[in-house]
Amino acid sequence: MAGLSLAGVEKSYGSVGAVRGVDLDVAEGEFAVLVGPSGCGKSTLLRCIAGLEEVDAGTVTIGDDVVNDVRPRDRNLAMVFQNYALYPYMNVRENIAFGLKARRTPPAEVEARVRRAADMLGIGALLDRLPRQLSGGQRQRVAIGRAIVRDARLYLFDEPLSNLDAQLRDEMRTEIKRLHQELGKTMIYVTHDQIEAMTLADRIVLLREGAIEQEGAPLDLFERPVSRFVARFLGSPPINFIPGRFEGDATGLAVRCGEDAVFPLPRERAAALAARAGSDVILGVRPEHITGSTHAARRLEHLVPHEVTIDLVQPTGTRLYGAFALAGIEVLAELQAHDVERPGETIEVLFDMQRAILIDPKDDLVI
Ligand SMILES: Nc1ncnc2c1ncn2[C@@H]1O[C@H](COP(=O)(O)OP(=O)(O)OP(=O)(O)O)[C@@H](O)[C@H]1O
Ligand SMILES: [Mg+2]
Repeated sequence: MAGLSLAGVEKSYGSVGAVRGVDLDVAEGEFAVLVGPSGCGKSTLLRCIAGLEEVDAGTVTIGDDVVNDVRPRDRNLAMVFQNYALYPYMNVRENIAFGLKARRTPPAEVEARVRRAADMLGIGALLDRLPRQLSGGQRQRVAIGRAIVRDARLYLFDEPLSNLDAQLRDEMRTEIKRLHQELGKTMIYVTHDQIEAMTLADRIVLLREGAIEQEGAPLDLFERPVSRFVARFLGSPPINFIPGRFEGDATGLAVRCGEDAVFPLPRERAAALAARAGSDVILGVRPEHITGSTHAARRLEHLVPHEVTIDLVQPTGTRLYGAFALAGIEVLAELQAHDVERPGETIEVLFDMQRAILIDPKDDLVI
């Protein structure tokens, strides 16, 4: 087992700074997920760790060893590439076994490990086929199999589930999580899917234009984002951002949005932000923090009632998303199945102002 440490890692392609000054420590046995929008440098960073790209600056340390000058094959890493990179003239069995044979594993053990991985991945019946005789999702599973049969120091996954259908993706996500629990190996996993990141990670590393915007435990990032970018990236459906202004009076501080919506802040938050009265703010509220009003809930100070006209209803079965306009913005609320029967109804919703995320529009940072 080995942890990973990156210090000041930089990588440019000509004038494009793909990775810009990344510092990151991943503990032994930790499952770290690199996440971020397309082009933010996830694959490049993974390739720098694997040694497939030479870094322009900084150090890559695996366990206690600085590996900047160590060839990729000598870093003892197992990697699943975004584009599979299977050997076209080898069948599935040979592809999965390749890394084991290269390390002179006894044939009986190779066969047993390949079997186990293939069965786990649901490709046990495909062992004699060539890659071109497989679907994209099957190729992806072969690539995963090739990595997990190995006894590597570090496992690197680049979007390993992107070509699977929704159901298989859910199953494989569970398998990968189980695999991590069983093996206890350090894993670095790239995805642009925030749900995958939330469910798999011990630690999420959110990249933006080649730099780390925020890292931490999934719930930390979700509940305490540092910026508008982080708040928007995590959560589905995404957080609502409503333009407003801090308004102070003798009793405390509120956020006013548009003409007639005023949301008082809970006492402690109000006290801490009193100096901001009169300045602009973006009120960030996740759909699940705007709920239908119930008699019991209404007594809580931080749940602020507001009357809205629901103009769009999206039932999901257990829940119902209702959209309404506020301060010129379309806002989504997570309601219960029968809170609204049809569009056009006016109902009272509760804004959870304890969990609301307040953002300074001047720099898009959380206040
Ligand atoms: N070989 C290359 N030559 C030139 N530019 C590159 C090369 N590889 C990547 N880039 C650029 O570096 C940036 C980061 O690319 P990278 O592939 O790491 O992004 P990514 O986060 O993995 O994106 P995706 O989610 O689409 O896979 C992008 O702007 C990309 O165009
Ligand atoms: Mg990529």
